[in-house]
Amino acid sequence: MNQDLRIDLGERSYAICIGSGLLGQASTWAGLPTSAQALLVSNTTVAPLYADAVARALAPLHTEVLRLELPDGEAHKNWESLQTLFDTLLAKGCDRNTVLYALGGGVVGDMVGFAAACYMRGVPFVQIPTTLLAQVDSSVGGKTAINHPLGKNMIGAFYQPRRVICDLDTLKTLPDREWSAGLAEVIKYGPIADLTFLDWIESNIDALMRRDTQAVAHAVHRSCAIKAEVVGQDERESNLRAILNFGHTFGHAIEAGLGFGTWLHGEAVGCGMVMASELSCRLELVERPFVERLTRLIAKAGLPIRGPRLGAHDYLAHMRVDKKAQAGQIRFVLIDGPGRAVVRGADDSLVSDVIEACCA
Ligand code: NAD
Ligand code: GLY
Repeated sequence: MNQDLRIDLGERSYAICIGSGLLGQASTWAGLPTSAQALLVSNTTVAPLYADAVARALAPLHTEVLRLELPDGEAHKNWESLQTLFDTLLAKGCDRNTVLYALGGGVVGDMVGFAAACYMRGVPFVQIPTTLLAQVDSSVGGKTAINHPLGKNMIGAFYQPRRVICDLDTLKTLPDREWSAGLAEVIKYGPIADLTFLDWIESNIDALMRRDTQAVAHAVHRSCAIKAEVVGQDERESNLRAILNFGHTFGHAIEAGLGFGTWLHGEAVGCGMVMASELSCRLELVERPFVERLTRLIAKAGLPIRGPRLGAHDYLAHMRVDKKAQAGQIRFVLIDGPGRAVVRGADDSLVSDVIEACCA
């Protein structure tokens, strides 16, 4: 069952292909740009699993398909990996028609997208996400970046791919911990935008945890549809798109505070959603039973619901460099009634209380 979606961005519109067996189907790749050279970028974990299949599929589109394997992990989402990418492109004489393919999770996707935005001021790229998190979130919408030691995703660009290819079969090899991390971004869409979807996730959390084919297909499809709708309205995050950052302000502080790669991004977002809900409740935006409901679901998805004890001062320091902050004031995505989100500030003392209450 293949179900394509479209993200509507004028001349930068593109298809999000979702289904089983997509890598091996000629129709998946039809209509993508052709060129003499292509660079297929993956990492040391994903390349041995899927790079041969992708390279075979790309043969009709390019005379030469070059390959690059980056080191695996969030800790490598940095200048050094980007430099390796540029070194390869230049050493191999790649020109501005060269197409980049990002095969992997959000780390590879974000880095390859940023390299594509910069190389010769912009070359085409295609996202082939292989984690649940990347299929439901990071591959869609054109946010690309690397981390800086002082902040998550601080150096980057908005740059849209030409297509997103979500082959659900690739998810079968994903470790359980990464699976739960991906579920955090699936759950995120419910409280901010779609209560019916939140109800569905609650009813189907056991099926999702055992990776039931139909449940997974629906979760990926609905998540991408919500994201495409939001990004279609606000590509560069002038306002609405910020709601997709629910749980991320606290989450990014956890990731940076512990050192990138200690907690997975999805784990930090899961716990961050608990903290943001608690803050919403203390600001009387949402009732406590909703916070408890969401916390239960996040726990059932195998995610941490208590933050690490970094201390309120450290959390606040990391959150002040969040991209939503304005003039030093931290802004949070909060739940403004079930199914609705709002972006606003809160007093440091209240935020500190929430951190103390939510950390183990
Ligand atoms: P990841 O890319 O590190 O992948 C997780 C792990 O799974 C890695 O070890 C990877 O090698 C492995 N893996 C990937 N696919 C596999 C497969 N099919 N089988 C077995 N192993 C596989 O992490 P992620 O969770 O995919 O992405 C997290 C990143 O995405 C973070 O850097 C985050 O900032 C970013 N992100 C970006 C956006 C965006 O809009 N651009 C949105 C959300 C998250
Ligand atoms: N993951 C947040 C966004 O794409 O805006």
